[in-house]
Amino acid sequence: MILFLLFLVRKHYTSLKNLPPGPQPWPIIGNMHQMAKNPHIAAANFAKKYGPLISLRLGTRLLVVASSPDAAMEILKTQDRYLSGRSIPDALQQSFIDYYFVWARDCNKHWKSCRTLCWAELFSAKAIEAQSTLQNEKLARMLDFLNNTQGTVVKIEELIFTTLINTLSNILFSKDFLDLKDDETAHRLKFGLLKILENSVTPNVSDFFPIVGGLDLQGLRKDSLNHLDELSSFSDAVVKERRAQITKKVHVAVHEKDFLDRLLENNFTTAQINILVLELFIAGTDTVVTAIEWAMAELLKNQNIMHKVQAELKRELSYDSIMKSDLSKLTYFNACIKETLRLHPVVPVLIPRRALKACEVMNFTIPQNAQLWVNVWAISHDPKVWEDPNTFKPERFLGSNINFTGHDYEFLPFGGGRRMCPGLPSAVKSLQTILASLILVYDWTLPNDEDPKTLDMSEKFGVTLQKEKPLQLIFSRKK
Ligand code: HEM
Repeated sequence: MILFLLFLVRKHYTSLKNLPPGPQPWPIIGNMHQMAKNPHIAAANFAKKYGPLISLRLGTRLLVVASSPDAAMEILKTQDRYLSGRSIPDALQQSFIDYYFVWARDCNKHWKSCRTLCWAELFSAKAIEAQSTLQNEKLARMLDFLNNTQGTVVKIEELIFTTLINTLSNILFSKDFLDLKDDETAHRLKFGLLKILENSVTPNVSDFFPIVGGLDLQGLRKDSLNHLDELSSFSDAVVKERRAQITKKVHVAVHEKDFLDRLLENNFTTAQINILVLELFIAGTDTVVTAIEWAMAELLKNQNIMHKVQAELKRELSYDSIMKSDLSKLTYFNACIKETLRLHPVVPVLIPRRALKACEVMNFTIPQNAQLWVNVWAISHDPKVWEDPNTFKPERFLGSNINFTGHDYEFLPFGGGRRMCPGLPSAVKSLQTILASLILVYDWTLPNDEDPKTLDMSEKFGVTLQKEKPLQLIFSRKK
């Protein structure tokens, strides 16, 4: 049945003129295992054969993948206006679809108000400055906690996750959501967030054949809804309590106005707030945790680079000054951060885009509603773009103007165009302060005297490209 449908689809797309080239269904079926496990690598391999812009027919869906800086530029700059929709996976097609921000179908009115508010209240230079006391407080708490773990093995991702959730929940709601010692709630929250992301990229028959979408044959939509409901309960109670306080005029200002106050002033409904907060937690925690984990793994593996970073941090900073210093002036340290994001692009194919209208890219036609991936992973690992692309070499960024601000199309860890990551300033600040503190304050060793050179660097594909085996470390405070 599925093969027959594939045949029909192939006929349909073959009759569309001037699509980008690409494999017919058979090579895709032949590569099904890799397509499912590591689609970013499978697509990069297809690009070597068919060119930088390819089309893949998956059921009734057409996926267009860009794998060169030129193709990325046409999508994110030249045709950004027409290609700035998002393709919402069936698992996330819920009744509140119109309230999405990260997954907003197009740049609609609600998306615009989310973006404007988030920029003003969370990501502008003024907002980032205003958050530093809070951020430092949460970081200090994390370091205190680590001081008491001397000699024991720590899963670093969980610790950083809890720190980031609490930083964000305080910025949004003036409240801690998690306790560093309460592994279980942290685990539940992280599991829920990751499960939603995982469901959104699991190959789903409903995505390939939307005609059977209503049946939710794999149960992914239902499962996502359960997690979305459970996670919303974290914010729901706070929003209701704040509303009641405002109604009864007993909202005593024990803190500066927070993000929740601004959302209420802007007439966001409780459901809209719950979804926005959830999306911010999803977009803003796992990404940063994953980037820090990759950076730490690379520094462990490349001890000569670690020594250079340690020397720079020691020369320029002291423990007390980390929080107050402008870390963007540390050239080698920042080159390590860029190199981590190049070698391990945290969002490997960006968050899939959708063509709002048919348009031309590289002289090919992108039909309306085609899904688009910008394969940042393929660009980052292309020897035509980067010399010795598979080696961790921060030196390549020294004396170079290449940056991740969305204008250098060979280096797009935060995407580009109107859907580019608005959280970039906050992400970079967290990456810098957490990583610098961990390097400056502690020596890190692997459990069981494992040799860092043999550290397993396997990737696990998802919306975020995680380290398959979480990094476990023993921290000892430097003398
Ligand atoms: C290392 C950390 C991060 C990386 C690598 C990253 C990367 C990305 C990428 C690639 C996109 C899609 C861009 C595109 O389609 O062109 C994105 C979107 C987004 N990111 Fe980030 N991100 C990070 C951290 C954050 C943080 C800390 C926040 C907020 C707290 C955040 C909020 C968002 C939002 C709201 C969107 C959706 C924007 C839209 O669709 O208009 N991100 N991010």
